[in-house]
Amino acid sequence: MENGSYKFSLIMLQMYQIIEIMYQFNYKYWYNFVLLIRAVKMKAIILKEFGGVENFQTIEIPVPVIKADEVLIKLKSISINPVDVKTREGKGMASRIKDPMPIILGWDISGVITETGADVTGFKAGDEVFSMIEFPKLGKAYAEYVVAKPSELAIKPANISHDEAAAATLAALTAWQALTLHVTIKSGDRVLIQAAAGGVGHYAVQIAKHMGAYVIGTSSAANKDLILSLGADEHIDYHAQSLEQAAKNIDYILDPIGGDNTSLLLNIVKKGGTIISIMGGLTEPLLQKAAELGINAHNILVYPSGADMETIAGFLTKGIVKSVVYKTFPFDQLADAHLELAKGRTAGKITLAF
Ligand SMILES: NC(=O)c1ccc[n+]([C@@H]2O[C@H](COP(=O)([O-])OP(=O)(O)OC[C@H]3O[C@@H](n4cnc5c(N)ncnc54)[C@H](OP(=O)(O)O)[C@@H]3O)[C@@H](O)[C@H]2O)c1
Repeated sequence: MENGSYKFSLIMLQMYQIIEIMYQFNYKYWYNFVLLIRAVKMKAIILKEFGGVENFQTIEIPVPVIKADEVLIKLKSISINPVDVKTREGKGMASRIKDPMPIILGWDISGVITETGADVTGFKAGDEVFSMIEFPKLGKAYAEYVVAKPSELAIKPANISHDEAAAATLAALTAWQALTLHVTIKSGDRVLIQAAAGGVGHYAVQIAKHMGAYVIGTSSAANKDLILSLGADEHIDYHAQSLEQAAKNIDYILDPIGGDNTSLLLNIVKKGGTIISIMGGLTEPLLQKAAELGINAHNILVYPSGADMETIAGFLTKGIVKSVVYKTFPFDQLADAHLELAKGRTAGKITLAF
């Protein structure tokens, strides 16, 4: 049963969007008002408040209106990540989101540009594009249309589907930035990718291999064949083997696990080697210990970048990297997709198609 304050928030959201449209149209004339009343509507999935998937609700709201430096994209596919689940629950990026409830989550997109602002160069209506947008602010991708900045976009490779493109956004960007930001991987380097079957890990295995590394991937036995098929040279079943015993002389480690796992990694990486944690696992004491041991250690948070997306598009075009799409849900089954991802057993990526 909807309560009064929730209904009020919904009305406020719609009012806000109408005011935004009025502002964009430089509202002066009565016929602009008629335009507003008849505004084209789209389906969007709002989050009423942080918590469970029952807080998602599909509503109809006006298609957003772009500013001069933005483009409007009709979405064909989106993808979700653990950060979508954590943020929906009030963790993840929730503390960075200052917008009032209800909000629209979603960062990973693939679709077709339907409109470009007057100042936009480099993209035109009809271009198929993909990216991670606005992260860690609201991307608002749980909707049929989304507004994006051209600087965050790349042209979708023609040889892959929108699902495969939407998959290769936040997770692929993270893998690329983790392997390039604070480190130069050299041919023959021994690279350990933990959670190698996951969204980030499966791209990291392929990119590190392309860089010429000797790649070791960890997962349960069930995902061994997948990881080897992506180009890993060696597999470690983390249920059956101790990482300290199985992984030796490591030059670089990608840590998507955090917690106690990260401190263990200091015993595995070589002096002069690198640990990149995407789980904030490198606490101040661990960073200090790493410095004493001569280990290059960094926590990173992925950021939007059209330039990095172009690099990823190049990899996808040439078949250097491929997206493993674990499961595709219809857009209106977003809640089920969140529940599936929350199990933590995804091999590859979960996408949603429109
Ligand atoms: N800092 C950043 O910018 C950033 C960016 C992206 C992601 N992240 C974070 O990084 C983590 C991974 O993201 P993701 O998208 O790759 O997640 P994901 O796709 O949900 O990862 C699922 C995979 O993790 C594997 N796994 C779980 N526990 C494992 C362990 N102890 N050792 C090895 N593999 C394990 C599972 O393999 P098995 O079933 O075989 O165990 C499964 O294939 C998430 O917590 C996410 O929030 C951070």
